[in-house]
Amino acid sequence: MGAEEAVLSFLESNEEISDSGKFSATIGIDHNEIVNIIKSLHGFRLVDAQDIKREWWVLTDEGRSYTVAGSPEVQLFLAVPPEGIPREELQKKVDPTVFKIGCSQAIKNKWVEMGKGLVSRKVQHVEDRVKDLLKQIQDGEVIDAKDIDELKRRKLIALQTWKGYSLRKGPNFAPKRVKAVTDLTREHLQKGDWKGLEFKDYNYNARGATLEAGHLHPLLKVREQFRKIFLQMGFEEMPTNNFVESSFWNFDALFQPQQHPARDSHDTFFLQDPSTTKQLPEDYVERVKHVHESGGHGSRGYGYEWKREEADKNLLRTHTTAVSSRMLYLLAQKPFSPRRYFSIDRVFRNEAVDRTHLAEFHQIEGLVCDRGLTLGDLIGVLHDFFARLGMSKLRFKPAYNPYTEPSMEIFSYHEGFKKWVEVGNSGMFRPEMLLPMGLPEDVSVIAWGLSLERPTMILYGIDNIRDLFGHKVDLGLIQTNPICRLGVQ
Ligand code: PHE
Repeated sequence: MGAEEAVLSFLESNEEISDSGKFSATIGIDHNEIVNIIKSLHGFRLVDAQDIKREWWVLTDEGRSYTVAGSPEVQLFLAVPPEGIPREELQKKVDPTVFKIGCSQAIKNKWVEMGKGLVSRKVQHVEDRVKDLLKQIQDGEVIDAKDIDELKRRKLIALQTWKGYSLRKGPNFAPKRVKAVTDLTREHLQKGDWKGLEFKDYNYNARGATLEAGHLHPLLKVREQFRKIFLQMGFEEMPTNNFVESSFWNFDALFQPQQHPARDSHDTFFLQDPSTTKQLPEDYVERVKHVHESGGHGSRGYGYEWKREEADKNLLRTHTTAVSSRMLYLLAQKPFSPRRYFSIDRVFRNEAVDRTHLAEFHQIEGLVCDRGLTLGDLIGVLHDFFARLGMSKLRFKPAYNPYTEPSMEIFSYHEGFKKWVEVGNSGMFRPEMLLPMGLPEDVSVIAWGLSLERPTMILYGIDNIRDLFGHKVDLGLIQTNPICRLGVQ
């Protein structure tokens, strides 16, 4: 008889199976097999199953060894002769674990004492209670809770649990399970047995198999939204496909002095190989050197000796403004026409990693280059740009960047947080940066930058940047994250 049949036929003539373990022993079928059948019969409500659980103590390997050799404290005691023994000698006489555990227990029991390196007996005779208790447990006897605790603490016994079921007939009980058929087949029709068959109901709530497909990371979704906003505002995307940049384009061209702390290796990752750039536009380099050293165009410059070696050093770009400086230089090489440029890409900084900082992140940068632009134009463009992100309340605070004057930090009122939060940095590029490039005197450039990670974290409710980017990211986040629509409330 099969296990299922055995269970059902027993229940047909009996009120209950009180213990699936005993039942499986009587019919000689493995308990695991019975358990699987019970779960399935219970699922179809042919039977009602109740969990039952049994717990008892068993000896660990260590516990079992003491039932033969005696507890370590007794072994130790017996190794101490009546006249005492030097500690080192005793240690040689017994097993190292017996020595270690035995000593501490025997001293605790006041069986032996240790004085000036000599171990001596304090009593004449001891009883091996631990061994006796372990034997009692082995024989299935019940012992005192206090003794149990002690043996458990010494890891000599472990709790063994057994899980099984008690069963009664369920609401759909039948002495034999009729398997509902899923499909009507040609054989059914030919044999004509379809008339007597029971068909399985359709499960309209079943989920389809999940599709294996690529997924967009939240940063990609938010980037796409920013890109759309820039494109709607008539901006062109700058080529950002070089993470490695020379100090020249990253710093010098931006009128950032060579002693500036950001140019220290504590803040910037410099490259070892290749450590220097191959090529720079020489005449422009000369003009940049000159403006750093002695200014010009109404500027006094920084008055230090500008070094070519410093400008040649390769680094991982620390901001996408390096891209902007290259683009503006290229623009200056042709007859002037106004431009709106943007970029969104990765930058690197040698920073201590914490909840909000990683050594790499993405910057969003926009710039407008035209004749006669003013700070008013910058403020106007920023209002337009941030309003499209759903941030219409803006405030500006004077700031400092080596390459912009004036410079402004941008704050937006966050309705959710009920406070002003910093959302970006901006300014008008300095003439010391633009004029050496060769841009006409009346051309100004207004620009701003922000990180991609910060708005993404706010939008997706992520408060630790390591949950968004890097090796600790949960792949589930990448597989299922909502679409992003900026500015739509
Ligand atoms: N480059 C600046 C930064 O890294 C951002 C910025 C861009 C500031 C353009 C002004 C103008 O924070």
